[in-house]
Amino acid sequence: MQTVALSVAIVCLLAGAVYGGLMFDRPCPTNVPVKQYFEVDSYLGKWYEMQRYESEFEENFDCVQVRYTLNEDDSVQVSNSAYNLFNGSSINALGRAVLSFPDEEVVQGKLNVSFFGAPNDLSNYWVLDTDYETFSVVWNCQPRGEEQSEESFWVLSRTPTLPADTDVLFRIHYIMRRYIDRSLVRFTSQLDERCPVF
Ligand SMILES: *[C@@H]1O[C@H](CO)[C@@H](O)[C@H](O)[C@H]1NC(C)=O
Ligand SMILES: *[C@@H]1O[C@H](CO)[C@@H](O)[C@H](O)[C@H]1NC(C)=O
Repeated sequence: MQTVALSVAIVCLLAGAVYGGLMFDRPCPTNVPVKQYFEVDSYLGKWYEMQRYESEFEENFDCVQVRYTLNEDDSVQVSNSAYNLFNGSSINALGRAVLSFPDEEVVQGKLNVSFFGAPNDLSNYWVLDTDYETFSVVWNCQPRGEEQSEESFWVLSRTPTLPADTDVLFRIHYIMRRYIDRSLVRFTSQLDERCPVF
């Protein structure tokens, strides 16, 4: 039972799965710009989680790493790992991602991510901005009735710390100022010596 609970927690944490987000008393913002001409190939590889929206399901997970690799059918294998610095539990979850709308003339950075073989039937991983080589800002908003929404948010980095690059920091903050409630953002510990090397 414990294991099941932890798996669910990590799926929420990393997948942008519906039940993992934070509730907001507002409808999903509309016209949120996402990355245009999104290139899956350039996005593959390893990312370190820098920041995320915390929620009660996700509490205490650090050292969060995600690895994206190409499957034979051109979908993306999502391999997540995380470590709990308080009690030493570590977690891995395998998922699958596809472009939400692959046939669009201009491919947008919208993906459908699901775990444990569930259908990819939700556009729940929106890359708002990335340079592929340094950072990625990912967001998910699902309507909950007319007046509420459930949102997830992640900042990912190619390295365990974000480089102090003015352009990168500007691009991240530009998005955060508009769409993210900073008071709900949690910073992910990556430099702790207990973080396992995955
Ligand atoms: C570690 O802590 C998390 C909550 O922070 C809890 O869900 C989990 O069951 C704990 N694991 C162990 C092995 O104690
Ligand atoms: C992704 O999910 C959306 C619904 O949010 C759906 O319209 C779309 O067809 C899905 N894309 C794929 C490739 O399954």
